[in-house]
Amino acid sequence: MSNTAANKLDTSPQTVLITGGAGYIGSHCVAHLKEYGHRVVILDDFSTGFSHLIQADDWVEGNTQDPETVLQVLQDFSVDAVMHFAAHCYVGESVQDPAKYYANNVNGSLRLFQTMVAAGVRRLVFSSTCAIFGDPDYLPLDETHPQRPINPYGASKQMVERILQDFDVAYGLKSVCLRYFNAAGAHPTLPIGECHQPETHLIPLALDVALGKRSHLDIFGADYPTPDGTCIRDYVHIMDIAEAHRLALAYLNAGGNSEHYNIGTETGHSVKEVITACEHLSGRAIEVRMGPRRPGDPPSLVASAQKIRHHLGWRPVYPNLEETIQTAWQWASKSHQASGYQSSTSSS
Ligand SMILES: NC(=O)c1ccc[n+]([C@@H]2O[C@H](COP(=O)([O-])OP(=O)(O)OC[C@H]3O[C@@H](n4cnc5c(N)ncnc54)[C@H](O)[C@@H]3O)[C@@H](O)[C@H]2O)c1
Repeated sequence: MSNTAANKLDTSPQTVLITGGAGYIGSHCVAHLKEYGHRVVILDDFSTGFSHLIQADDWVEGNTQDPETVLQVLQDFSVDAVMHFAAHCYVGESVQDPAKYYANNVNGSLRLFQTMVAAGVRRLVFSSTCAIFGDPDYLPLDETHPQRPINPYGASKQMVERILQDFDVAYGLKSVCLRYFNAAGAHPTLPIGECHQPETHLIPLALDVALGKRSHLDIFGADYPTPDGTCIRDYVHIMDIAEAHRLALAYLNAGGNSEHYNIGTETGHSVKEVITACEHLSGRAIEVRMGPRRPGDPPSLVASAQKIRHHLGWRPVYPNLEETIQTAWQWASKSHQASGYQSSTSSS
């Protein structure tokens, strides 16, 4: 693929609506866009977001499923483009309560896109996921890999991608779907970082054990067909994800057609490797407990990011796992001090 698109990026300042901007990835994207001179307004219902993560001067408490609120925000702020992060994101919960996921992730997105079209806003960057692929046939996973999501969360994201395809044809809504692998790390200077309640992601859980906030870390399966028996994932730094959004916006501004890109470092790390790196960076031992495999966890997920590299010139600034964890540790240890010590047994 040529890099013609990268030569035609339009990076002029825009007014961008960020749905889910009080969440982990959205908040970092807000900070990054502001750094590049964009004006940002957040729409968040705080279902899983936090006011202390808000990095924009302008924010509205509201739900993407409420067309009146969305229309008012689009019009009041003269929004040029939307970045859509707002969603429910727990794979396990999506299996227990699929209705919640289809209602928010699919219907919430559909309502948002309908309102955008009604308001004449026709550029969108969408938070998709590697979960749309399901169990891989081959690695690294490129954009042409078959899509067979194995849980309602992944299926909901695949459905939104399909809606966007049809909205482009029918209504001229141009979109870039960014399929992140495992988002990780924290902003290197601002006081924002990974914050989910409950937390299910490996790095913050491991660092919580290092900080004494949890007694131990569960490892789900050590008998996978990987070198050390634990699952392998591709941990992509949050600021590299934010940069992919900035480039996707510039691509759409330049008149780019709808696209899909996988976002990862192209390197996999096992659960045990991540824990060893967390121990090394924190200087503390992390107690682990071995448990059985969880259903629906593929042994390895590693991205091919060749398409976005060639097409938009994206390059991870944090290709190295230790550097990514270093930023997470910086955030976790500081927020630990700020919030005071809280021993938690229920959240482990
Ligand atoms: N964290 C990851 O590793 C990862 C990987 C792949 C894809 N993603 C996707 O990235 C996006 C952000 O993930 P995150 O980890 O930052 O999650 P998060 O829970 O921290 O952020 C989601 C935000 O959206 C808000 N929200 C949810 N539904 C809403 C609605 N209908 N209207 C308004 N606000 C709503 C929540 O309050 C929250 O602030 C999600 O779409 C997720 O599916 C995340």
